[in-house]
Amino acid sequence: MVWSCSLNLLLLAGFLPKAFMEPHAPGRKTDADLHVLQSPPSLVLTKGDQAILNCSFPAGDPNGKGAVSWNRFSLEEDRSSGRAISLGGHFSLAYPRTSLGKGDGSLIISNISWEDAGIYVCKVWLWGKEEKEGNGTRLVVYGHPNQPEIYLQVQGQKEGTIVLACRTFGFHPAPVNFSWHSSDLSITALGPAELWKSESGDFQSIHYVAIPCSSTWKTFTCSVRHVSLVEPLSSNYTYDPGEHGLSGNQLMEYLNIIKICLVLGLLMSITLTVGKRCKKRK
Ligand SMILES: *[C@@H]1O[C@H](CO)[C@@H](O)[C@H](O)[C@H]1NC(C)=O
Ligand SMILES: *[C@@H]1O[C@H](CO)[C@@H](O)[C@H](O)[C@H]1NC(C)=O
Ligand SMILES: *[C@@H]1O[C@H](CO)[C@@H](O)[C@H](O)[C@H]1NC(C)=O
Ligand SMILES: *[C@@H]1O[C@H](CO)[C@@H](O)[C@H](O)[C@H]1NC(C)=O
Ligand SMILES: *[C@@H]1O[C@H](CO)[C@@H](O)[C@H](O)[C@H]1NC(C)=O
Repeated sequence: MVWSCSLNLLLLAGFLPKAFMEPHAPGRKTDADLHVLQSPPSLVLTKGDQAILNCSFPAGDPNGKGAVSWNRFSLEEDRSSGRAISLGGHFSLAYPRTSLGKGDGSLIISNISWEDAGIYVCKVWLWGKEEKEGNGTRLVVYGHPNQPEIYLQVQGQKEGTIVLACRTFGFHPAPVNFSWHSSDLSITALGPAELWKSESGDFQSIHYVAIPCSSTWKTFTCSVRHVSLVEPLSSNYTYDPGEHGLSGNQLMEYLNIIKICLVLGLLMSITLTVGKRCKKRK
């Protein structure tokens, strides 16, 4: 993204004779009637949404001289670190040519992403009046975690226990909170959840738990809480005692089955090739 340092939008028009003649007499409050209202004060959206940041001020002469500009400040840092918004790309004004006449300098951001989060301040300058700023709109961009996936870890098994992992991705900001539930088995968390940031700026997280081996079918629920969710997202995993673990002998059995399949496949392809050749010779 290119940030220009200059104030980018200048709605220049013919000078108003009236404006020239307006006396700036001491004590006269020429800027008393210029106030810039921004709404809403805070906006929480999801990546990909369109953001409309309202900025209104008393409508001026449509041919008057003046400017509307927007600055963005980071959510964390103080207000001294603002950057001018370059219009174009996914930033546009609701009324690009007629902002001053309408008294509406609203900013539209299409397809918002994580980097667009910040405090947006609308600044209005009209000829003969002092420049004024609005109070700012705080834009927060969330990403929802996907439906959690639960899977069995083959490795890292302790005697008498199995390890389940619950994974979710695509969320922003970090973190998510995991919780597990089973009707009667005790579940032991194996440390805190692991967290990574992806190249596209969102996060993924995995949480591991150990559960005791059991001789009956059990259902486990993993729930994920995130600041972007009203209700937690849950998934179930059903543990089948006949199949758990793929460990020891079972793993060998599976490998043997794979071997047998490979050998059979090989035999069949040989038979087919030989068969074809025999036909050709006839
Ligand atoms: C922003 O302005 C539009 C058009 O004036 C209006 O419909 C909308 O309700 C406003 N939004 C907020 C949050 O004030
Ligand atoms: C929205 O922005 C993302 C990058 O943040 C881009 O990959 C995607 O193509 C854009 N979608 C549209 C509809 O422009
Ligand atoms: C803007 O902020 C000032 C000082 O914090 C406050 O007095 C004023 O009421 C606010 N204006 C609006 C429109 O919220
Ligand atoms: C996650 O857990 C922490 C600590 O218990 C808590 O402060 C935070 O609010 C939780 N977040 C969500 C989204 O539930
Ligand atoms: C998970 O299992 C519980 C009961 O064990 C059930 O109430 C719930 O509907 C199940 N959820 C899903 C997503 O299948």
